[in-house]
Amino acid sequence: MRVLIIGSLGGELGQAGRIAVTRGARLEQADEIAAAMARLRADARIDLILCELGHDIGWLVRQLAAEHITVPVVACGTDTDPDAAADAIRAGAREFLPLPPDPDLIAAILEAASGESHALIFRGATMIATVRRAEQVARSEASILISGESGTGKEVLARHIHRRSRRAAGNFVALNCAAIPENLLESELFGHEKGAFSGAVARRIGKFEAADGGTLLLDEISEMDVRLQAKLLRALQEREIDRLGGSAPVKVNVRILATTNRELAAEVTKGNFREDLYFRLNVVSVAVPPLRRRPEDIAALSEHFARRYAELNGFPFRPISAMAALRLAAHAWRGNVRELENTIHRAVLLAEGSEIGPAAIELPGQVAPAASAESAPLGITGLVGRRMEDVERDLILETLGHTLGNRTHAATILGISIRALRNKLRDYAAQGVAVPPPAAGVAA
Ligand SMILES: Nc1ncnc2c1ncn2[C@@H]1O[C@H](COP(=O)(O)OP(=O)(O)OP(=O)(O)O)[C@@H](O)[C@H]1O
Ligand SMILES: [Mg+2]
Repeated sequence: MRVLIIGSLGGELGQAGRIAVTRGARLEQADEIAAAMARLRADARIDLILCELGHDIGWLVRQLAAEHITVPVVACGTDTDPDAAADAIRAGAREFLPLPPDPDLIAAILEAASGESHALIFRGATMIATVRRAEQVARSEASILISGESGTGKEVLARHIHRRSRRAAGNFVALNCAAIPENLLESELFGHEKGAFSGAVARRIGKFEAADGGTLLLDEISEMDVRLQAKLLRALQEREIDRLGGSAPVKVNVRILATTNRELAAEVTKGNFREDLYFRLNVVSVAVPPLRRRPEDIAALSEHFARRYAELNGFPFRPISAMAALRLAAHAWRGNVRELENTIHRAVLLAEGSEIGPAAIELPGQVAPAASAESAPLGITGLVGRRMEDVERDLILETLGHTLGNRTHAATILGISIRALRNKLRDYAAQGVAVPPPAAGVAA
């Protein structure tokens, strides 16, 4: 993102700018508001303005509005001047950034302005313990292996560790080992020299060097092939890397975090993952529990996403109604936090009235009360595009919900034997799906 600084780059404001740069921002600078306006008119890519106190922020905000330029203004100044800060906010500044700048605060401001969020939300004891463990080792240089199912928040936790580390002012660089073809992964990691292969028309810096002084997150590390695992191990041991086609190693100072959604120890046993690398990466391990094992977090996350997506879409914030919260609490969240986030995003867009009601909560396999068959266009029902197995599971669980857990009734309605039903339920339970218990006093 592009940040326009109004004021001098010499002092603490310049320091703020440099921190923003380490967070991936590009800087532009203007000495005065008039020059800044000229830049803003000429360049639609500016995302954020940092304006030093002392400039006429009220005039700037009004002028931006008059010219339909929607770029947030953050006022910056020493926090020994509380009145000036309050005046700036009153004049229309979005925030006040006290100087000297705090890297965390700058990260939060950039995040808010870019619409990206790396906030880590948690409420329940399970996740509190997980985060505490992560924070305890964050300030060390140790490699940390973060494990957990897909969508549980491994990357947000990794970013949190980076923010709490001594490398917080350095870069956080992530590389997904599963998303990149094997033959390209090496050059992504270590970079290449001009002419290293046909097509290598210029030197390219790899992720290791990009993360120098900071943190490198190796996502889905289990997917890295064994040959490259050896090179990675060497890089970690020697603290130097070889660019492809390079003639001399390059020193790097990188802290490694890795994630996996497979049992990495089992991959070692199977011979798919080098044991020495495993020990090297797994100095400390942090397991992120699936959402269904931390139901207390559902409400906190839902509210967070409801606020965030209301803001991003320019909608009014609607709280989640009690009925909607029940619906959310009852769901199995196989897609974990990512699934919850998508569900709430959709709910924010669909909700009407003063709250997000149950009708706006569309869960897979459950047609929300408001969206009945007549709203399905051209005879395409909500089933198309879904996997047979998932539809079957949802049908079984919903039927069981209707019969208040009574297996015999449910089997009759479904037209299957009670034995077949029991087998299915046992499989679901083994997958961690919440299965309604047999109702007390009813033949089950
Ligand atoms: N505790 C949390 N607080 C706020 N947002 C979260 C939290 N956990 C996850 N999310 C959000 O859920 C989504 C998935 O999180 P993330 O990418 O960290 O998961 P992951 O475990 O790395 O998933 P995958 O294994 O699929 O890569 C992201 O949009 C993330 O911002
Ligand atoms: Mg991830």
